[in-house]
Amino acid sequence: MRIGVLTAGGDCPGLNAVIRSVVHRAVHDRNDEVIGFEDGFTGLLDGRYRTLDTNDVAGILARGGTILGSARLERDRLREACDNSEELIDRLGLDALIPIGGEGTLTAARMLADAGLPVVGVPKTIDNDISATDRTFGFDTAVGVATEAMDRLKTTAESHQRVMVVEVMGRHAGWIALEAGMAAGAHGICIPERPFEVDDLVKMVEERFAREKKFALICVAEGAHPAEGSMPYEKGVIDRYGHERFVGIGNRLASELEHRLGKEAKPVILGHVQRGGTPTAYDRVLATRFGWHAVEAAHRGDFGRMTALRGTEIVMTPLANAVTELKRVPQDRMDEAESVY
Ligand code: F6P
Repeated sequence: MRIGVLTAGGDCPGLNAVIRSVVHRAVHDRNDEVIGFEDGFTGLLDGRYRTLDTNDVAGILARGGTILGSARLERDRLREACDNSEELIDRLGLDALIPIGGEGTLTAARMLADAGLPVVGVPKTIDNDISATDRTFGFDTAVGVATEAMDRLKTTAESHQRVMVVEVMGRHAGWIALEAGMAAGAHGICIPERPFEVDDLVKMVEERFAREKKFALICVAEGAHPAEGSMPYEKGVIDRYGHERFVGIGNRLASELEHRLGKEAKPVILGHVQRGGTPTAYDRVLATRFGWHAVEAAHRGDFGRMTALRGTEIVMTPLANAVTELKRVPQDRMDEAESVY
């Protein structure tokens, strides 16, 4: 078989582990040819690719980022590709295409599969918000990075009697905020699924300071927003990839708390540090399993589907399932996280 692989959308620890696994299984075990498209779907459309053999993927298992590069694709170009899918398949001579990506990439993958391309998707995102899989690789790493940062911030917050507002990633789903917040023992967790009341946070901090626990740690997802009328707030504009541009909730919340409490409140924006660097052992294993199963699916002709984790098993599920609904934090998970301050 001639198998194409690409990484698209935001990068994520574990992408290289998938690429390595695809090459090992396909080239070494099954005698396939693997080509890697550069910079996501743009490399596919522009015909920019290189052949990958086992030497090309030596030593990349633990490396963050993606050796193929990644990019977001403008919607117009994607539609153009779908309209010319037959010509694209002929030109590239592909028997299978394995796009590795998050919600946007899997939506594109589904459109290309519907247009006739032999696509096997592999889900990735640090946000863990793809409903068709129990977990995505990258999430465990991001939670680890955010937890470690908050452990550190807690000790300095305590020394200086400060409030720390730590903003983590999570556009529409608050999984990183929830799990890293729980792991670090944050005193407040704000997620996109549930608008927060600033008054509740003010009360929590005041109670802690009254009890001589004169510091507080609040973990806020970048997509979290205050309840209507809770504090001045306006939504960000939508960019050309269909994503909302965030307005910096960490900074805004910290300044609102400082103003209302009359105490120092410091914002810390963790940003892309959560996406960089080496993947955890868990993410390396999950990514490697996804790569292996994607090649097997290609050999079975199991197209229009993607790899998914169900319990401890890897299964194949229709790409359509991956993109209909985002996996959001349910109320009972938030209830579990809310403890005594
Ligand atoms: O989708 C993953 C994610 O990490 C989001 O949490 C975040 O909003 C987004 O990517 C930012 O990506 P970029 O800055 O690369 O556009």
